[in-house]
Amino acid sequence: MSETPRRVSARPSQILRALGPNRREADPCTIVILGGAGDLAKRKLLPALYQLQLDGLMPEGVDIVGISREELDDAAYRKMMHDAVKESHEITAFDEKSWAQMAARLHYVAGDLSDRRAYDYFENRLSLVEAHRPPEHRNRMFYLSVPPSVFEPIARALSASGLAPRIWDPATRPWRRVVIEKPFGRSLATARDLNKLALDLFAERQIYRIDHYLGKETVQSILVFRFANAIFEPIWNRQSIHHVQITAAETVGVEKRGKYYEEAGVVRDMFQNHLLQLLTLTAMEPPVTMSADAVRDEKVKVLKAIRGWRHQDIEAATVRAQYAAGLVGNAPVPGYREEPDVARDSVTPTYSAARFFVDNWRWQGVPFLLRSGKRMARRVSEIAVQFREPPVKMFSHEIGEQIAPNLLTLRIQPDEGVSLTFQVKAPGAAHQLSHGVEVAPVAMDFNFREAFGDTNPPAYETLLLDVMLGDATLFTRSDEVDAAWQVVDPVINYWDTHRPPRMPVYPAGSWGPVEADRLIQAHNAVWREPE
Ligand code: BG6
Repeated sequence: MSETPRRVSARPSQILRALGPNRREADPCTIVILGGAGDLAKRKLLPALYQLQLDGLMPEGVDIVGISREELDDAAYRKMMHDAVKESHEITAFDEKSWAQMAARLHYVAGDLSDRRAYDYFENRLSLVEAHRPPEHRNRMFYLSVPPSVFEPIARALSASGLAPRIWDPATRPWRRVVIEKPFGRSLATARDLNKLALDLFAERQIYRIDHYLGKETVQSILVFRFANAIFEPIWNRQSIHHVQITAAETVGVEKRGKYYEEAGVVRDMFQNHLLQLLTLTAMEPPVTMSADAVRDEKVKVLKAIRGWRHQDIEAATVRAQYAAGLVGNAPVPGYREEPDVARDSVTPTYSAARFFVDNWRWQGVPFLLRSGKRMARRVSEIAVQFREPPVKMFSHEIGEQIAPNLLTLRIQPDEGVSLTFQVKAPGAAHQLSHGVEVAPVAMDFNFREAFGDTNPPAYETLLLDVMLGDATLFTRSDEVDAAWQVVDPVINYWDTHRPPRMPVYPAGSWGPVEADRLIQAHNAVWREPE
Protein backbone atom coordinates (compact mmCIF):
# COMPACT_ATOMS: atom_id res chain seq x y z
CA MET A 1 0.00 0.00 0.00
CA SER A 2 1.42 3.39 -0.89
CA GLU A 3 2.04 5.73 2.00
CA THR A 4 0.30 9.06 2.17
CA PRO A 5 2.99 11.72 2.49
CA ARG A 6 2.92 13.68 5.71
CA ARG A 7 1.99 17.33 5.37
CA VAL A 8 4.80 19.82 5.72
CA SER A 9 5.47 23.26 7.17
CA ALA A 10 2.35 24.97 8.40
CA ARG A 11 2.92 28.63 9.25
CA PRO A 12 0.41 29.39 11.97
CA SER A 13 2.55 32.04 13.65
CA GLN A 14 2.38 34.14 10.48
CA ILE A 15 -1.35 33.62 10.37
CA LEU A 16 -1.74 34.66 14.00
CA ARG A 17 0.32 37.79 13.40
CA ALA A 18 -1.82 38.61 10.39
CA LEU A 19 -4.95 38.27 12.50
CA GLY A 20 -3.58 40.80 14.97
CA PRO A 21 -6.20 42.28 17.29
CA ASN A 22 -9.01 40.56 15.34
CA ARG A 23 -7.92 37.23 16.68
CA ARG A 24 -10.76 35.47 18.49
CA GLU A 25 -9.97 33.79 21.77
CA ALA A 26 -11.38 30.37 22.55
CA ASP A 27 -12.49 29.70 26.10
CA PRO A 28 -10.66 27.21 28.28
CA CYS A 29 -12.59 23.96 28.28
CA THR A 30 -12.56 20.23 28.79
CA ILE A 31 -12.84 18.19 25.61
CA VAL A 32 -14.59 15.00 26.61
CA ILE A 33 -14.29 12.33 23.93
CA LEU A 34 -16.97 9.70 24.44
CA GLY A 35 -15.44 6.69 22.70
CA GLY A 36 -12.03 8.09 23.55
CA ALA A 37 -10.09 4.89 22.84
CA GLY A 38 -11.88 4.29 19.53
CA ASP A 39 -10.78 4.48 15.95
CA LEU A 40 -11.87 8.06 15.22
CA ALA A 41 -10.11 9.33 18.32
CA LYS A 42 -6.88 7.68 17.21
CA ARG A 43 -7.07 8.50 13.51
CA LYS A 44 -8.54 12.00 13.53
CA LEU A 45 -9.35 13.64 16.85
CA LEU A 46 -6.12 13.28 18.80
CA PRO A 47 -3.94 14.06 15.74
CA ALA A 48 -6.04 17.21 15.15
CA LEU A 49 -5.72 18.27 18.80
CA TYR A 50 -2.01 17.60 18.74
CA GLN A 51 -1.69 19.70 15.57
CA LEU A 52 -3.47 22.57 17.32
CA GLN A 53 -0.91 22.26 20.09
CA LEU A 54 1.97 22.19 17.62
CA ASP A 55 0.61 25.18 15.72
CA GLY A 56 0.31 27.17 18.94
CA LEU A 57 -3.47 27.35 18.44
CA MET A 58 -4.55 25.26 21.40
CA PRO A 59 -6.38 27.61 23.76
CA GLU A 60 -4.97 28.06 27.24
CA GLY A 61 -6.40 25.80 29.91
CA VAL A 62 -7.75 22.99 27.76
CA ASP A 63 -7.99 19.48 29.21
CA ILE A 64 -8.79 16.41 27.17
CA VAL A 65 -10.55 13.44 28.71
CA GLY A 66 -11.16 10.18 26.84
CA ILE A 67 -13.92 7.94 28.13
CA SER A 68 -14.27 4.35 26.88
CA ARG A 69 -14.93 0.88 28.13
CA GLU A 70 -11.28 -0.32 27.91
CA GLU A 71 -9.52 -0.65 31.27
CA LEU A 72 -6.69 1.84 30.88
CA ASP A 73 -5.11 4.36 33.19
CA ASP A 74 -3.85 7.83 32.19
CA ALA A 75 -0.36 6.51 31.46
CA ALA A 76 -1.56 3.70 29.20
CA TYR A 77 -3.95 6.05 27.38
CA ARG A 78 -1.19 8.59 26.80
CA LYS A 79 1.04 5.87 25.41
CA MET A 80 -1.72 4.59 23.13
CA MET A 81 -2.38 8.09 21.78
CA HIS A 82 1.31 8.96 21.57
CA ASP A 83 1.78 6.03 19.20
CA ALA A 84 -1.37 6.80 17.21
CA VAL A 85 -0.49 10.48 16.75
CA LYS A 86 3.13 9.76 15.91
CA GLU A 87 2.01 7.37 13.16
CA SER A 88 -0.60 9.77 11.81
CA HIS A 89 -0.36 11.40 8.41
CA GLU A 90 -2.73 14.14 9.53
CA ILE A 91 0.03 16.02 11.34
CA THR A 92 2.90 18.07 9.96
CA ALA A 93 5.60 16.80 12.32
CA PHE A 94 5.89 14.89 15.54
CA ASP A 95 7.76 16.69 18.26
CA GLU A 96 8.14 14.94 21.64
CA LYS A 97 8.23 18.25 23.51
CA SER A 98 4.90 19.45 22.12
CA TRP A 99 3.45 16.02 22.71
CA ALA A 100 4.60 16.10 26.35
CA GLN A 101 2.86 19.46 26.80
CA MET A 102 -0.36 18.03 25.46
CA ALA A 103 -0.02 14.67 27.24
CA ALA A 104 0.07 16.49 30.56
CA ARG A 105 -3.51 17.63 29.78
CA LEU A 106 -4.67 14.23 28.57
CA HIS A 107 -6.68 12.01 30.90
CA TYR A 108 -8.62 8.80 30.69
CA VAL A 109 -11.69 7.48 32.43
CA ALA A 110 -12.73 3.84 32.00
CA GLY A 111 -16.46 3.25 32.10
CA ASP A 112 -19.53 1.91 30.38
CA LEU A 113 -21.10 4.80 28.49
CA SER A 114 -24.41 3.00 28.12
CA ASP A 115 -24.76 2.65 31.91
CA ARG A 116 -26.55 5.69 33.28
CA ARG A 117 -25.14 5.06 36.78
CA ALA A 118 -21.58 5.53 35.55
CA TYR A 119 -22.22 9.21 34.83
CA ASP A 120 -21.94 10.33 38.47
CA TYR A 121 -18.47 8.81 38.48
CA PHE A 122 -17.66 10.61 35.19
CA GLU A 123 -18.82 13.88 36.75
CA ASN A 124 -16.48 13.36 39.73
CA ARG A 125 -13.54 12.63 37.49
CA LEU A 126 -14.23 15.63 35.26
CA SER A 127 -14.54 17.90 38.30
CA LEU A 128 -11.14 16.75 39.52
CA VAL A 129 -9.54 17.38 36.13
CA GLU A 130 -11.09 20.86 35.94
CA ALA A 131 -10.37 21.86 39.54
CA HIS A 132 -7.44 24.06 38.46
CA ARG A 133 -9.82 26.38 36.55
CA PRO A 134 -12.25 28.86 38.08
CA PRO A 135 -15.90 27.68 37.89
CA GLU A 136 -16.85 29.97 35.00
CA HIS A 137 -14.02 28.43 32.95
CA ARG A 138 -15.17 24.86 33.44
CA ASN A 139 -16.69 24.67 29.96
CA ARG A 140 -17.18 21.26 28.39
CA MET A 141 -17.30 19.92 24.86
CA PHE A 142 -18.80 16.44 24.66
CA TYR A 143 -17.67 14.71 21.48
CA LEU A 144 -19.92 11.72 20.73
CA SER A 145 -17.48 9.52 18.86
CA VAL A 146 -19.70 6.47 19.27
CA PRO A 147 -21.65 4.13 16.92
CA PRO A 148 -25.16 5.32 15.96
CA SER A 149 -26.71 2.37 17.85
CA VAL A 150 -25.60 3.78 21.23
CA PHE A 151 -26.13 7.44 20.46
CA GLU A 152 -29.55 7.61 22.09
CA PRO A 153 -28.75 6.13 25.53
CA ILE A 154 -25.57 8.20 25.74
CA ALA A 155 -27.26 11.47 24.78
CA ARG A 156 -30.03 10.75 27.29
CA ALA A 157 -27.55 9.91 30.04
CA LEU A 158 -25.54 13.08 29.36
CA SER A 159 -28.66 15.12 29.77
CA ALA A 160 -30.31 13.27 32.66
CA SER A 161 -27.09 13.12 34.71
CA GLY A 162 -26.73 16.87 34.46
CA LEU A 163 -23.37 16.60 32.66
CA ALA A 164 -24.79 18.33 29.61
CA PRO A 165 -27.98 20.17 30.57
CA ARG A 166 -29.88 22.20 28.01
CA ILE A 167 -28.63 25.79 27.97
CA TRP A 168 -30.62 28.21 25.84
CA ASP A 169 -28.39 31.25 26.07
CA PRO A 170 -25.10 30.77 24.22
CA ALA A 171 -23.52 33.49 26.39
CA THR A 172 -23.94 31.35 29.55
CA ARG A 173 -20.69 30.28 31.24
CA PRO A 174 -19.60 27.61 31.75
CA TRP A 175 -20.96 26.32 28.44
CA ARG A 176 -21.85 22.77 27.41
CA ARG A 177 -21.51 21.85 23.72
CA VAL A 178 -22.30 18.52 22.11
CA VAL A 179 -20.58 17.35 18.93
CA ILE A 180 -22.36 14.70 16.88
CA GLU A 181 -20.56 12.57 14.31
CA LYS A 182 -21.95 11.31 11.04
CA PRO A 183 -24.02 9.30 10.11
CA PHE A 184 -26.90 11.46 11.24
CA GLY A 185 -29.72 8.95 10.71
CA ARG A 186 -30.05 6.43 7.92
CA SER A 187 -33.26 7.78 6.39
CA LEU A 188 -35.43 10.87 6.60
CA ALA A 189 -37.54 9.24 9.33
CA THR A 190 -34.59 8.15 11.50
CA ALA A 191 -32.85 11.51 11.02
CA ARG A 192 -36.03 13.21 12.20
CA ASP A 193 -36.17 10.97 15.28
CA LEU A 194 -32.55 11.77 16.01
CA ASN A 195 -33.09 15.49 15.54
CA LYS A 196 -36.12 15.35 17.79
CA LEU A 197 -34.17 13.51 20.46
CA ALA A 198 -31.23 15.92 20.25
CA LEU A 199 -33.52 18.96 20.39
CA ASP A 200 -35.53 17.50 23.27
CA LEU A 201 -32.32 17.26 25.27
CA PHE A 202 -30.17 20.20 24.08
CA ALA A 203 -30.62 23.61 22.49
CA GLU A 204 -29.80 23.84 18.77
CA ARG A 205 -26.99 26.28 19.54
CA GLN A 206 -25.33 23.68 21.76
CA ILE A 207 -25.27 21.07 18.99
CA TYR A 208 -22.45 20.78 16.44
CA ARG A 209 -23.19 18.22 13.70
CA ILE A 210 -19.99 17.33 11.91
CA ASP A 211 -19.67 17.09 8.15
CA HIS A 212 -15.90 16.99 7.84
CA TYR A 213 -16.03 18.24 4.24
CA LEU A 214 -17.01 21.64 5.60
CA GLY A 215 -13.75 21.73 7.55
CA LYS A 216 -11.71 21.47 4.36
CA GLU A 217 -10.02 24.75 3.47
CA THR A 218 -11.02 24.52 -0.18
CA VAL A 219 -14.66 23.96 0.71
CA GLN A 220 -14.65 27.08 2.88
CA SER A 221 -12.91 28.86 0.05
CA ILE A 222 -15.92 28.36 -2.26
CA LEU A 223 -17.78 31.11 -0.40
CA VAL A 224 -14.78 33.43 -0.50
CA PHE A 225 -14.29 32.79 -4.20
CA ARG A 226 -17.93 33.51 -4.95
CA PHE A 227 -18.58 36.42 -2.60
CA ALA A 228 -15.25 38.21 -2.24
CA ASN A 229 -14.91 38.62 -6.03
CA ALA A 230 -17.33 40.76 -7.96
CA ILE A 231 -16.61 39.36 -11.42
CA PHE A 232 -18.24 35.97 -11.02
CA GLU A 233 -21.64 36.95 -9.65
CA PRO A 234 -23.06 38.38 -12.92
CA ILE A 235 -22.32 35.14 -14.77
CA TRP A 236 -23.19 32.73 -11.95
CA ASN A 237 -26.59 31.75 -13.28
CA ARG A 238 -28.65 30.04 -15.97
CA GLN A 239 -27.85 32.68 -18.56
CA SER A 240 -24.15 31.81 -18.60
CA ILE A 241 -23.81 28.34 -17.09
CA HIS A 242 -24.55 25.22 -19.11
CA HIS A 243 -24.15 22.70 -16.30
CA VAL A 244 -22.25 22.00 -13.09
CA GLN A 245 -20.38 18.74 -12.40
CA ILE A 246 -19.57 17.83 -8.83
CA THR A 247 -17.28 14.85 -8.31
CA ALA A 248 -16.02 13.08 -5.21
CA ALA A 249 -14.03 10.13 -6.50
CA GLU A 250 -11.94 7.87 -4.30
CA THR A 251 -9.39 5.20 -5.17
CA VAL A 252 -9.89 3.34 -1.91
CA GLY A 253 -12.44 0.54 -1.65
CA VAL A 254 -14.59 -0.07 1.39
CA GLU A 255 -11.46 -1.19 3.30
CA LYS A 256 -12.46 -2.83 6.58
CA ARG A 257 -15.82 -1.09 6.68
CA GLY A 258 -17.82 -3.68 4.71
CA LYS A 259 -20.38 -4.07 7.46
CA TYR A 260 -21.06 -0.36 7.76
CA TYR A 261 -20.95 0.16 4.02
CA GLU A 262 -23.44 -2.61 3.24
CA GLU A 263 -25.95 -0.71 5.39
CA ALA A 264 -25.00 2.69 4.02
CA GLY A 265 -24.06 2.68 0.33
CA VAL A 266 -22.74 5.69 -1.52
CA VAL A 267 -25.85 7.85 -1.31
CA ARG A 268 -26.01 7.83 2.49
CA ASP A 269 -22.23 7.85 2.82
CA MET A 270 -21.37 10.70 0.42
CA PHE A 271 -24.42 12.33 -1.23
CA GLN A 272 -26.63 13.09 1.75
CA ASN A 273 -23.82 15.06 3.34
CA HIS A 274 -20.62 15.92 1.47
CA LEU A 275 -21.90 16.21 -2.12
CA LEU A 276 -25.06 18.10 -1.22
CA GLN A 277 -22.92 20.47 0.87
CA LEU A 278 -20.80 21.19 -2.22
CA LEU A 279 -23.94 21.72 -4.27
CA THR A 280 -25.47 24.14 -1.77
CA LEU A 281 -22.27 26.19 -1.48
CA THR A 282 -22.10 26.43 -5.28
CA ALA A 283 -25.75 27.32 -5.76
CA MET A 284 -26.66 29.43 -2.72
CA GLU A 285 -27.49 33.13 -2.82
CA PRO A 286 -25.14 35.57 -1.09
CA PRO A 287 -26.02 35.51 2.63
CA VAL A 288 -26.85 38.79 4.36
CA THR A 289 -23.86 38.30 6.67
CA MET A 290 -21.33 35.55 7.18
CA SER A 291 -22.93 34.54 10.48
CA ALA A 292 -23.63 30.85 11.01
CA ASP A 293 -27.38 31.26 10.72
CA ALA A 294 -27.34 33.57 7.71
CA VAL A 295 -25.12 31.15 5.77
CA ARG A 296 -27.15 28.12 6.79
CA ASP A 297 -30.45 29.85 5.94
CA GLU A 298 -29.27 30.25 2.35
CA LYS A 299 -28.03 26.68 2.13
CA VAL A 300 -31.37 25.35 3.34
CA LYS A 301 -33.16 27.39 0.65
CA VAL A 302 -31.12 25.63 -2.03
CA LEU A 303 -31.91 22.18 -0.63
CA LYS A 304 -35.58 23.08 -0.54
CA ALA A 305 -35.45 24.25 -4.16
CA ILE A 306 -34.05 20.94 -5.43
CA ARG A 307 -36.65 19.35 -7.65
CA GLY A 308 -38.45 16.37 -6.09
CA TRP A 309 -38.32 12.96 -7.70
CA ARG A 310 -40.97 11.05 -9.59
CA HIS A 311 -40.24 7.35 -10.14
CA GLN A 312 -39.59 7.85 -13.83
CA ASP A 313 -37.06 10.59 -12.97
CA ILE A 314 -35.20 8.26 -10.65
CA GLU A 315 -34.95 5.71 -13.44
CA ALA A 316 -33.76 8.27 -15.95
CA ALA A 317 -31.63 10.60 -13.86
CA THR A 318 -29.77 8.37 -11.43
CA VAL A 319 -27.27 5.57 -11.82
CA ARG A 320 -26.12 3.06 -9.24
CA ALA A 321 -23.23 0.66 -9.68
CA GLN A 322 -20.66 -1.47 -7.89
CA TYR A 323 -16.97 -1.82 -8.51
CA ALA A 324 -15.80 -5.08 -10.00
CA ALA A 325 -12.26 -6.43 -9.68
CA GLY A 326 -9.69 -4.31 -11.47
CA LEU A 327 -6.43 -2.44 -11.17
CA VAL A 328 -5.86 0.58 -8.97
CA GLY A 329 -2.49 2.03 -9.84
CA ASN A 330 -0.94 -1.20 -10.98
CA ALA A 331 -2.23 -3.30 -8.12
CA PRO A 332 -5.02 -5.81 -8.65
CA VAL A 333 -7.93 -5.29 -6.25
CA PRO A 334 -11.05 -7.39 -5.61
CA GLY A 335 -14.58 -6.41 -6.56
CA TYR A 336 -17.01 -5.07 -3.98
CA ARG A 337 -18.84 -8.39 -3.62
CA GLU A 338 -15.53 -10.08 -2.78
CA GLU A 339 -14.76 -7.67 0.07
CA PRO A 340 -14.99 -8.91 3.68
CA ASP A 341 -18.44 -8.57 5.30
CA VAL A 342 -20.12 -7.92 1.94
CA ALA A 343 -22.91 -10.19 0.71
CA ARG A 344 -22.06 -12.06 -2.49
CA ASP A 345 -25.34 -10.88 -4.02
CA SER A 346 -25.22 -7.38 -2.53
CA VAL A 347 -26.85 -4.54 -4.46
CA THR A 348 -25.40 -1.81 -2.27
CA PRO A 349 -24.08 0.86 -4.65
CA THR A 350 -20.46 1.95 -4.33
CA TYR A 351 -20.94 4.47 -7.15
CA SER A 352 -23.74 6.77 -8.00
CA ALA A 353 -24.32 9.54 -10.47
CA ALA A 354 -27.41 11.72 -10.37
CA ARG A 355 -28.81 14.77 -12.05
CA PHE A 356 -30.40 17.44 -9.88
CA PHE A 357 -32.24 20.61 -10.79
CA VAL A 358 -32.45 23.61 -8.48
CA ASP A 359 -35.81 25.13 -9.27
CA ASN A 360 -35.28 28.81 -8.61
CA TRP A 361 -34.75 31.89 -10.77
CA ARG A 362 -30.98 31.63 -10.79
CA TRP A 363 -30.70 27.97 -11.71
CA GLN A 364 -33.86 26.97 -13.57
CA GLY A 365 -32.93 24.37 -16.20
CA VAL A 366 -29.24 24.07 -15.27
CA PRO A 367 -28.35 20.42 -14.56
CA PHE A 368 -26.21 19.73 -11.51
CA LEU A 369 -24.52 16.43 -12.27
CA LEU A 370 -23.16 14.78 -9.15
CA ARG A 371 -21.14 11.58 -8.92
CA SER A 372 -19.19 9.75 -6.28
CA GLY A 373 -17.61 6.35 -6.18
CA LYS A 374 -15.07 4.15 -4.49
CA ARG A 375 -12.23 2.48 -6.41
CA MET A 376 -12.26 5.00 -9.19
CA ALA A 377 -9.38 5.99 -11.44
CA ARG A 378 -8.19 8.92 -9.30
CA ARG A 379 -8.81 10.45 -5.93
CA VAL A 380 -10.32 13.78 -6.79
CA SER A 381 -13.03 16.05 -5.44
CA GLU A 382 -13.95 19.05 -7.52
CA ILE A 383 -16.67 21.35 -8.72
CA ALA A 384 -16.55 22.04 -12.44
CA VAL A 385 -18.72 24.85 -13.77
CA GLN A 386 -19.11 24.65 -17.51
CA PHE A 387 -20.21 27.84 -19.21
CA ARG A 388 -22.31 28.09 -22.32
CA GLU A 389 -20.85 28.22 -25.80
CA PRO A 390 -20.62 31.63 -27.45
CA PRO A 391 -23.93 32.47 -29.18
CA VAL A 392 -22.27 32.70 -32.60
CA LYS A 393 -19.58 30.19 -33.43
CA MET A 394 -17.43 32.35 -35.70
CA PHE A 395 -14.22 30.49 -35.25
CA SER A 396 -15.46 26.93 -35.14
CA HIS A 397 -17.29 27.64 -38.42
CA GLU A 398 -14.03 28.67 -39.97
CA ILE A 399 -12.14 25.61 -38.89
CA GLY A 400 -15.08 23.24 -38.83
CA GLU A 401 -14.65 21.94 -35.32
CA GLN A 402 -16.16 22.44 -31.89
CA ILE A 403 -14.62 24.95 -29.50
CA ALA A 404 -14.54 23.81 -25.89
CA PRO A 405 -16.65 26.15 -23.77
CA ASN A 406 -15.13 27.96 -20.77
CA LEU A 407 -14.69 25.83 -17.72
CA LEU A 408 -14.12 26.96 -14.17
CA THR A 409 -12.86 24.22 -11.86
CA LEU A 410 -12.72 24.52 -8.08
CA ARG A 411 -10.39 21.73 -7.02
CA ILE A 412 -11.26 20.60 -3.51
CA GLN A 413 -8.60 17.89 -3.24
CA PRO A 414 -5.94 16.68 -3.63
CA ASP A 415 -4.41 19.28 -5.96
CA GLU A 416 -6.19 22.19 -4.27
CA GLY A 417 -6.75 25.18 -6.54
CA VAL A 418 -8.87 26.93 -9.12
CA SER A 419 -8.53 26.96 -12.88
CA LEU A 420 -10.31 28.71 -15.70
CA THR A 421 -10.00 27.58 -19.29
CA PHE A 422 -10.56 29.88 -22.21
CA GLN A 423 -9.69 30.11 -25.87
CA VAL A 424 -6.84 32.04 -27.45
CA LYS A 425 -5.62 32.42 -30.97
CA ALA A 426 -2.88 29.90 -31.56
CA PRO A 427 0.08 31.81 -32.95
CA GLY A 428 1.33 30.97 -36.42
CA ALA A 429 0.85 32.14 -39.95
CA ALA A 430 0.25 28.86 -41.79
CA HIS A 431 -3.51 28.77 -41.28
CA GLN A 432 -3.84 32.20 -42.94
CA LEU A 433 -3.55 30.29 -46.17
CA SER A 434 -6.92 28.67 -45.44
CA HIS A 435 -8.42 32.00 -44.25
CA GLY A 436 -8.77 30.38 -40.85
CA VAL A 437 -7.93 31.33 -37.28
CA GLU A 438 -6.63 28.54 -35.18
CA VAL A 439 -8.16 28.57 -31.73
CA ALA A 440 -6.55 26.80 -28.77
CA PRO A 441 -7.81 26.23 -25.23
CA VAL A 442 -5.51 27.40 -22.41
CA ALA A 443 -5.87 27.36 -18.64
CA MET A 444 -5.26 30.00 -16.02
CA ASP A 445 -4.35 28.05 -12.96
CA PHE A 446 -4.14 28.90 -9.28
CA ASN A 447 -2.66 26.40 -6.86
CA PHE A 448 -3.07 26.85 -3.10
CA ARG A 449 0.20 25.13 -2.28
CA GLU A 450 2.26 27.22 -4.69
CA ALA A 451 0.68 30.42 -3.41
CA PHE A 452 0.61 29.77 0.33
CA GLY A 453 2.80 26.75 0.99
CA ASP A 454 1.24 23.83 2.76
CA THR A 455 -0.91 25.68 5.26
CA ASN A 456 -3.85 23.39 4.74
CA PRO A 457 -4.95 22.21 8.19
CA PRO A 458 -6.78 18.89 8.49
CA ALA A 459 -10.54 19.34 8.59
CA TYR A 460 -10.84 18.15 12.18
CA GLU A 461 -8.34 20.73 13.43
CA THR A 462 -10.48 23.52 12.00
CA LEU A 463 -13.72 22.02 13.24
CA LEU A 464 -12.55 21.31 16.80
CA LEU A 465 -11.23 24.85 17.11
CA ASP A 466 -14.55 26.20 15.83
CA VAL A 467 -16.45 24.27 18.49
CA MET A 468 -14.16 25.79 21.13
CA LEU A 469 -14.82 29.23 19.62
CA GLY A 470 -18.56 28.59 19.52
CA ASP A 471 -18.73 29.17 15.77
CA ALA A 472 -21.28 26.85 14.14
CA THR A 473 -20.96 28.11 10.54
CA LEU A 474 -19.22 24.93 9.41
CA PHE A 475 -21.68 22.60 11.11
CA THR A 476 -25.03 21.45 9.80
CA ARG A 477 -28.20 22.73 11.43
CA SER A 478 -31.17 20.42 12.09
CA ASP A 479 -33.31 21.85 9.25
CA GLU A 480 -30.37 21.47 6.86
CA VAL A 481 -29.92 17.80 7.73
CA ASP A 482 -33.65 17.29 7.33
CA ALA A 483 -33.75 19.04 3.95
CA ALA A 484 -30.77 17.02 2.68
CA TRP A 485 -32.48 13.78 3.68
CA GLN A 486 -35.62 14.93 1.85
CA VAL A 487 -33.53 15.16 -1.31
CA VAL A 488 -31.99 11.67 -1.18
CA ASP A 489 -34.61 9.65 0.69
CA PRO A 490 -36.88 9.00 -2.34
CA VAL A 491 -33.92 7.65 -4.31
CA ILE A 492 -32.82 5.35 -1.50
CA ASN A 493 -36.40 4.11 -1.01
CA TYR A 494 -36.91 3.51 -4.69
CA TRP A 495 -33.66 1.60 -4.98
CA ASP A 496 -34.40 -0.46 -1.89
CA THR A 497 -37.72 -1.53 -3.33
CA HIS A 498 -36.60 -1.95 -6.95
CA ARG A 499 -33.74 -4.39 -7.06
CA PRO A 500 -32.01 -4.03 -10.41
CA PRO A 501 -32.30 -7.07 -12.70
CA ARG A 502 -28.54 -6.74 -13.19
CA MET A 503 -26.44 -4.49 -10.98
CA PRO A 504 -24.33 -2.20 -13.21
CA VAL A 505 -20.61 -2.57 -12.56
CA TYR A 506 -17.45 -0.65 -13.34
CA PRO A 507 -13.94 -2.04 -13.19
CA ALA A 508 -11.97 -0.85 -10.17
CA GLY A 509 -9.62 1.88 -11.36
CA SER A 510 -12.03 3.23 -14.00
CA TRP A 511 -14.16 6.38 -14.15
CA GLY A 512 -17.45 4.59 -13.53
CA PRO A 513 -20.08 2.61 -15.44
CA VAL A 514 -21.24 3.25 -19.02
CA GLU A 515 -24.72 3.92 -17.66
CA ALA A 516 -23.36 7.15 -16.15
CA ASP A 517 -22.01 8.23 -19.53
CA ARG A 518 -25.49 7.88 -20.98
CA LEU A 519 -26.93 9.95 -18.17
CA ILE A 520 -24.64 12.88 -18.82
CA GLN A 521 -24.82 12.61 -22.60
CA ALA A 522 -28.54 13.31 -22.30
CA HIS A 523 -27.45 16.80 -21.20
CA ASN A 524 -24.97 17.28 -24.07
CA ALA A 525 -22.03 16.91 -21.75
CA VAL A 526 -19.32 14.41 -20.84
CA TRP A 527 -17.84 13.52 -17.48
CA ARG A 528 -14.50 15.04 -16.74
CA GLU A 529 -11.54 12.77 -16.18
CA PRO A 530 -9.19 15.01 -14.20
CA GLU A 531 -5.51 14.22 -14.55
C1 BG6 B 1 -16.47 9.80 4.86
C2 BG6 B 1 -17.04 8.53 4.28
O1 BG6 B 1 -17.49 10.61 5.38
O2 BG6 B 1 -15.77 10.51 3.86
C3 BG6 B 1 -15.94 7.68 3.67
O3 BG6 B 1 -17.71 7.80 5.28
C4 BG6 B 1 -15.14 8.49 2.69
O4 BG6 B 1 -16.47 6.53 3.04
C5 BG6 B 1 -14.68 9.80 3.32
O5 BG6 B 1 -14.01 7.72 2.31
C6 BG6 B 1 -14.02 10.70 2.29
O6 BG6 B 1 -13.45 11.78 2.95
P1 BG6 B 1 -12.09 12.43 2.44
O7 BG6 B 1 -11.84 13.55 3.39
O8 BG6 B 1 -11.06 11.35 2.51
O9 BG6 B 1 -12.36 12.86 1.05
